[in-house]
Amino acid sequence: MSNVDLITSPALAAHAERIVAAIRNFAPGADVNVRLARPNGGTGAGDEAATQAAWESYWSGGGHEGKWLYDAIASFYRRAIIRPAVNHFLGRTFAPGARVLHAGCGSGAVDVDASRRVRITALDISPLGLAEYARIHGEGTTLMLGSIFAIPAEDGSFDGVFNLGVMEHYWPADIGKILAEFNRVLKPGGHVVLYWPPAWGLSVIVLKMVHGALKRIGRGDIQLHPPEVTHVRSRAETRGWMEAAGFSMETFYFGPRDFFTHQIVVGRKHGRAPS
Ligand SMILES: C[S@@+](CC[C@H](N)C(=O)[O-])C[C@H]1O[C@@H](n2cnc3c(N)ncnc32)[C@H](O)[C@@H]1O
Repeated sequence: MSNVDLITSPALAAHAERIVAAIRNFAPGADVNVRLARPNGGTGAGDEAATQAAWESYWSGGGHEGKWLYDAIASFYRRAIIRPAVNHFLGRTFAPGARVLHAGCGSGAVDVDASRRVRITALDISPLGLAEYARIHGEGTTLMLGSIFAIPAEDGSFDGVFNLGVMEHYWPADIGKILAEFNRVLKPGGHVVLYWPPAWGLSVIVLKMVHGALKRIGRGDIQLHPPEVTHVRSRAETRGWMEAAGFSMETFYFGPRDFFTHQIVVGRKHGRAPS
């Protein structure tokens, strides 16, 4: 593999070498071009180091003995069920060649097909997640090390932002800040596509049952991934969050396309798209 671009936020630049080393581990000849982004403001939230540590543990597969089984099921689910739904809604929303930010990309197993149609910049706070993204996507990947609260990109850089399995890990007080930061990096008329589990979604119900069963056998200490604290609760509340951040909500879908897992929310940034 050669030619991977890595843009890093100034705040996390010290971790960039870890990504380069991890990529050279599976692709010894890889040519990784590292670029330091200019600080771009952002809405700032929480403790970046703690967030990063939690997700590094997740992507390292570390934690407990049953994690491999959870990871195997999650990986199958991402490829067989979620990926087609990503293809559908991204295909419907973005023109071929559009510049799209995958905000909280992790391994990116869900955007393998989509990344052949649109130009994806893969943003994550976890160096291990980004290295895994590069391993799965290979040549020509653009990685971005940074936080969704302070995206290391200029205002109006992207035609689209999408995000899957991330919003639910943040408290309601942070949701508006994340959406405002997505709005900042979008061009006028650009779209955000969120895959955000609702309280009534299949993964939420299954995870509740698994955690309940683990508690009953005395393994309540086992955490399969960082906690989910904010699920979608209603159309009205979601619309309120979207509008407050400068989006009109165009789609609010829950159904068979991803086997009743996410509420799929599409918002359009106010303003006219540049012609
Ligand atoms: C459940 S994973 C989903 C990964 C990917 N979207 C997928 O579906 O395969 C959530 C990802 O969001 C990333 N993440 C969480 N908080 C973040 C933040 N503040 N800034 C950037 N990435 C973040 C985590 O590191 C993790 O890789």
